[in-house]
Amino acid sequence: MSSPPSSEHASSFPSPSPAEELSATQALWRIARALPIVERSYAIIRFMILRVKLLATMDLLLPAEGPILDVGCGFGLWSAYFSQMQPGRRIIGIDPNAHRIAMAQKVAAKLGVKTEFFAEDVRQTAARGPFRAVYLLDVLHHIPSADQVEVVSQLTDMLEEGGTLVIKDITTKPWLGLKFTEILDRAMVGMKEELAYRHHNEWSELLRDLGYSVRVVRVPDVLPYPHVIIAATKGKRPVVASSQSAVLN
Ligand SMILES: C[S@@+](CC[C@H](N)C(=O)[O-])C[C@H]1O[C@@H](n2cnc3c(N)ncnc32)[C@H](O)[C@@H]1O
Repeated sequence: MSSPPSSEHASSFPSPSPAEELSATQALWRIARALPIVERSYAIIRFMILRVKLLATMDLLLPAEGPILDVGCGFGLWSAYFSQMQPGRRIIGIDPNAHRIAMAQKVAAKLGVKTEFFAEDVRQTAARGPFRAVYLLDVLHHIPSADQVEVVSQLTDMLEEGGTLVIKDITTKPWLGLKFTEILDRAMVGMKEELAYRHHNEWSELLRDLGYSVRVVRVPDVLPYPHVIIAATKGKRPVVASSQSAVLN
């Protein structure tokens, strides 16, 4: 699959209105204010990296209600964000980092959002679903490449038919963008942890093999992060090559 920068394809992705972007920004500020200073600084950097447009687009890809799994939720920033945007969502966040989970619980309590958090590795999670949606925001490349396919396949089993899998990750091209991201990721996780980035075409193929129909959008940034959002719908039967690729403006 090539990645044509076609607005025709980009229009197949939901695009937030100015009003939706404004309410997204307000929701993000409420989260930042609920955090202690160190975590607040981290959150503001994450908000700047991910940009309101990217988050608002992900918000429109997720169902407006029902159970949703946030894999690798960290401080629960996005669980708190997506729950504020649609109070009918019941978001369950998992992350192996107990400190982050404790912080996620505190923030959710302050904001009064309907979320639950568990200190768990996705590879040993007790979560079973069925979920209406599962999302991973900059998490897949932190899972060793030998485990990635098994993890996605396990998450597929937890999704209801017609459910949505949303992956926000970093693609491998252009090379300079990848190296830029890798340096910053290394600063966060050190040199020992494997960073297992994959090209978005590889993810698309893999997801189609698992029976999803797949849409991909590349999200340009002022910084050279090669952001990509992959929106996959679990089909009732194996879906024959149905994929689209686009660039979000
Ligand atoms: C870059 S952070 C992203 C956190 C959050 N999704 C966000 O966007 O702010 C990656 C997260 O993935 C989590 N993670 C790494 N390996 C994981 C695994 N095997 N299962 C679940 N989460 C994992 C890390 O603990 C970390 O919180």
